Amino acid sequence: MRMRNNPRAVEQLERRSKWLISKGEEPNDLRKHLETERAIHLELGTGKGRFLAQMAIANPDIWYVGAELRKEVLLSAVRKAERMNLSNCRYIWANINQIEEWFVPGSVDGIYLNFSDPWPKHRHRKRRLTHPNFLKKYRELLTPDGWIQFRTDNEKLFEFSLNAFLEEGFRVRNVRLDWHSHPDSEGVARTEYEEKFARKGQRIHQLTAFVPK
Ligand SMILES: C[S@@+](CC[C@H](N)C(=O)[O-])C[C@H]1O[C@@H](n2cnc3c(N)ncnc32)[C@H](O)[C@@H]1O
Repeated sequence: MRMRNNPRAVEQLERRSKWLISKGEEPNDLRKHLETERAIHLELGTGKGRFLAQMAIANPDIWYVGAELRKEVLLSAVRKAERMNLSNCRYIWANINQIEEWFVPGSVDGIYLNFSDPWPKHRHRKRRLTHPNFLKKYRELLTPDGWIQFRTDNEKLFEFSLNAFLEEGFRVRNVRLDWHSHPDSEGVARTEYEEKFARKGQRIHQLTAFVPK
């Protein structure tokens, strides 16, 4: 995601701390932190936050948490939540490599992975956010009924991810090779990248993977 370096991004984020969850000495117990019994859904690599904002508006009874590495991109997502005055959205400035340091095990009901970087070179495969090493971490974060929804335009990444989910014992359901032509996609939130790829006529793939029993 191309975005200019903003030396004031941290200061601008600090001014909007209401929207942010910070990293303490101990991992956050999200349910206590958000003072909620409601479901908590986490988007990893949330980008400019369009998907999360749309989901938050459509589902006011669910808490949405977006994780993003790049502060300028995160600021854009946080500004969006502020503009839209969303009350059920929070963000973390985090590297997903260390996501287990943020939240206690079993505190997340669902995870969205939308258009994660494909890292096409074989030698970079461990950086893919659906590599088995990452799936092990997500499994720890999720409740026993937890799920991961994965969406991408990249066929090779989709195939790699499908195999990784199966290898890790997840139960894979609702595999859609052309998500936008499926009736269930009607009116469902789309991400910034998704709109871009759809405009170019690229097919969008999607699957849902449930935590192994
Ligand atoms: C290709 S973009 C997709 C953004 C958004 N999900 C969408 O579909 O429009 C990938 C995003 O993931 C973020 N990202 C990549 N690796 C990350 C990591 N290790 N930790 C946190 N965020 C990461 C990038 O900064 C970028 O904003």
